Amino acid sequence: MYTEKVMDHFMHPRNVGEIEDASGVGTVGNAKCGDIMRIYLDIDENQIVRDAKFKTFGCGAAIATSSMATEMIIGKTVQEALEVTNKAVMEALGGLPPVKVHCSLLAEQAVHAALWDYAQKKGIVIEGLKPPVNDVDELDEEEG
Ligand code: FES
Repeated sequence: MYTEKVMDHFMHPRNVGEIEDASGVGTVGNAKCGDIMRIYLDIDENQIVRDAKFKTFGCGAAIATSSMATEMIIGKTVQEALEVTNKAVMEALGGLPPVKVHCSLLAEQAVHAALWDYAQKKGIVIEGLKPPVNDVDELDEEEG
């Protein structure tokens, strides 16, 4: 039921870990399944994501999407990173089974939460960035 790419990122996740003194850290969960994801960003003075790491206490699809999402945002500006949607991550993975789509929202929202944390610390505004939610389940109705 999973594509080869999903299995690859699940079995060999990229960018697992933490960043010390990260520019931004974001944690989101899904109250329904109890899974939690944390994303760390290292952002340089030109607002480019130099590095991204994650820790995911969750299902295989959540691990695969966090792995792919971190790969996709490294090297991007904060504005471009904000535009990496869960749909784009899923497409890059060759798709997810419908019941696992909500897992990809964790990755998108954890990135947003980390960007928000960065913007707060720097006192800047990232256009289009909304305050993060702690529980992505609140978003399911809107976006799921
Ligand atoms: Fe919870 Fe996938 S089942 S994130």
